[in-house]
Amino acid sequence: MRVALVTGGTAGIGAATAQALLAAGYRVAVNYAGNQPAAGAFTARTGIAAFAWNVADADACTAGVAQVEAALGPIEVLVNNAGITRDAMLHKMSAQQWREVIDVNLGGCFNMCRAVIEGMRERRFGRLINLSSVNGLSGQAGQTNYAASKAGLIGFTKSLALESASRNITVNVIAPGYTDTAMVSAVRPEVMEQILKTVPVGRLATPAEIARAVVFLAADDAGFITGITLSVNGGKYLD
Ligand code: CAA
Repeated sequence: MRVALVTGGTAGIGAATAQALLAAGYRVAVNYAGNQPAAGAFTARTGIAAFAWNVADADACTAGVAQVEAALGPIEVLVNNAGITRDAMLHKMSAQQWREVIDVNLGGCFNMCRAVIEGMRERRFGRLINLSSVNGLSGQAGQTNYAASKAGLIGFTKSLALESASRNITVNVIAPGYTDTAMVSAVRPEVMEQILKTVPVGRLATPAEIARAVVFLAADDAGFITGITLSVNGGKYLD
């Protein structure tokens, strides 16, 4: 049974992904930043163990990975899902809003990949799946920080895919569109109404629809797919 870790895995796309991986036969752990009651409820509901650390903190990632591996065994599938928004037009954005988003969304992916990559190289197997966003491809007013972090993940992924191919490690991006999660619910209703008009499928994605793509890329027989960006966006942006 392969071992999978999903960051930001107790809610939204991460929770759906953890449950889909469990259903597909993986041993699964999730990471979360700090909402202990939500994590406890998630574990009680699913039986999936949850581990708390901040993915923006490199040392915490090293320690967290060691903790997960002691409990479940070597991590073979890592889903970098943890992400935040601090939306504001650039002319109103603080340096803190910029930095927090870059540190969690992009820095977190570096920290987590760095913590698992040597073990994966030694064992000659790995699946690294990084959650970007349609807005990293298309841009979105109010999201210079978020779009930069999500576009950055794509360059990171392509580079690491090239470094890792000879070791049987694939590295891919999934770029979800607007999905029915707390992150999207936080957008003002009148703004959301305008955005939904730009989605040809005419609705939000369900978290399970994004999770389906993760399970696809995580599979052993997906070994020839590496360095790609798989859009799951209801047709909102076609590149
Ligand atoms: N394109 C161009 N201009 C826009 C715009 C758009 N989409 N939306 C707003 N503007 C303009 C407004 O017309 C206004 O211009 P003027 O000052 O010239 O009148 C100006 O920007 C300010 O707009 P707001 O009144 O909305 O400003 P605000 O400060 O109250 O709010 C905001 C700014 C918080 C960024 C708000 O516009 C917003 O929430 N936008 C949506 C951002 C978004 O889509 N976030 C996605 C979150 S979910 C997610 O990120 C998941 C994922 O991966 C998809």
